[in-house]
Amino acid sequence: MGNDSISKTFGVALALCIVCAVVVSSAAVILRPTQEVNKLLDLKSNILASAGLLKQGVSIETQFEQISTRVVDLETGRFTDAVDAASYDQRKASKDPAMSVALDPKQDPAKIKRRANYATVYLLETEQGIEKIILPIKGYGLWSTLYGFLALESDLQTVAGIGFYEHTETPGLGGEVDNPRWKAGWIGKQAYRQGEVVINVLKGKVDMSREGAESQIDGLAGATLTTRGVDNLVRYWLGDEGFRPLINQLKAGEA
Ligand SMILES: Cc1cc2nc3c(=O)[nH]c(=O)nc-3n(C[C@H](O)[C@H](O)[C@H](O)COP(=O)(O)O)c2cc1C
Repeated sequence: MGNDSISKTFGVALALCIVCAVVVSSAAVILRPTQEVNKLLDLKSNILASAGLLKQGVSIETQFEQISTRVVDLETGRFTDAVDAASYDQRKASKDPAMSVALDPKQDPAKIKRRANYATVYLLETEQGIEKIILPIKGYGLWSTLYGFLALESDLQTVAGIGFYEHTETPGLGGEVDNPRWKAGWIGKQAYRQGEVVINVLKGKVDMSREGAESQIDGLAGATLTTRGVDNLVRYWLGDEGFRPLINQLKAGEA
């Protein structure tokens, strides 16, 4: 068959397509388990980082051994064994009508539409009890849903840290939620006062000389909408629809 023949041209193109398709799909299948492992490692690293526990030079797996993963029933605020903590996927559950509740827009400041009935929380425990608790948080900013973790100290009201591991806010504006300096401003702030959620992300800077500064966080410059989104989602997850029942149970020693 001549090199200029139409059937040879199509034949070569078809053979190339088949070879490429086989290579690409084999790579996708072969690499999937590695991708899953790396995704889990990344999540663990974010959990540790949000609580200020991430150390360089020690494997994530080793560091995560000190963390216990528990599932909490958000309605009662009690830990539950109804689902397996290691395999429970809260993100998947929040899309499943059998595993989540639909939120009325008036009761949905974080704009998440549905909230899973169970949430996965992470605990750093010592003989004295809980040293840190790391709570998953999510909510809408300007362009995207932000997914992250908020960590509390052993008093269950002082913020140990915050971090978002997924969002598509604009770099330099809403994307400044990832700025280590802004995140450092959360550490030591008071999330609750006399059981009430008092943490508040301001539009603008915190005036440290004013009353309430101990529970206020600087807003993100030029990103009022992301700032408001973060304020809404943090207050939602610390509130009655989120982890407040758990915090109350833990304080009473009954979770
Ligand atoms: C290209 C572009 C990207 C923007 N990204 C963000 C963002 O990620 N987060 C945000 O809050 N505002 C973002 N803004 C700015 C908002 O539109 C808005 O002006 C800003 O939140 C300030 O609101 P204010 O004027 O009420 O203070 C962006 C604006 C432009 C033009």
